[in-house]
Amino acid sequence: MTIPISPVPSEPDRPASLYDLVGEETFRSIVHEFYLRVPSDPVLGPMYPAEDMAGAEDRLRWFLVQYWGGPQTFNEQRGHPRLRMRHMHFAVTPEAREHWLTMMSESLATVSDEDLPEPARLAIWDHMVRVADMLINRA
Ligand code: HEM
Repeated sequence: MTIPISPVPSEPDRPASLYDLVGEETFRSIVHEFYLRVPSDPVLGPMYPAEDMAGAEDRLRWFLVQYWGGPQTFNEQRGHPRLRMRHMHFAVTPEAREHWLTMMSESLATVSDEDLPEPARLAIWDHMVRVADMLINRA
């Protein structure tokens, strides 16, 4: 019996990313849970495109997946993230930041520790808080 040996490694020779450890489905769940909550939120609901929630869901998932070392779909579809610029025409007040992070914390809480081990959970949360702080653009 011959064992096929390919000279090309199936995985690029690099350390595993957080995305590799956690997987696409976990990011899909977090972002899906978040967008389930958006329409009924009194502050955020009116800001998001009711006619394109599926598109908005894709964009946030692509961004997070890309940031954490997964496929670079966000850059391919949307170009450089430039998140502060992309949020300028939304009123990201301290109140909106609070609502966004509260809904995201509820969404993260729906994912089991098995699918999202504590160190990965903390790293994802820490990044979200830092980005949310950076996005505030109105008093
Ligand atoms: C602080 C409160 C925030 C508010 C009020 C807010 C609001 C919004 C709104 C209304 C959109 C448009 C939805 C769409 O059509 O895609 C959006 C897009 C987006 N937001 Fe936020 N956001 C906040 C925080 C964040 C944070 C913390 C992140 C990342 C960790 C983030 C990442 C994104 C991304 C990647 C998009 C899609 C950008 C694009 O491709 O055009 N946002 N946000």
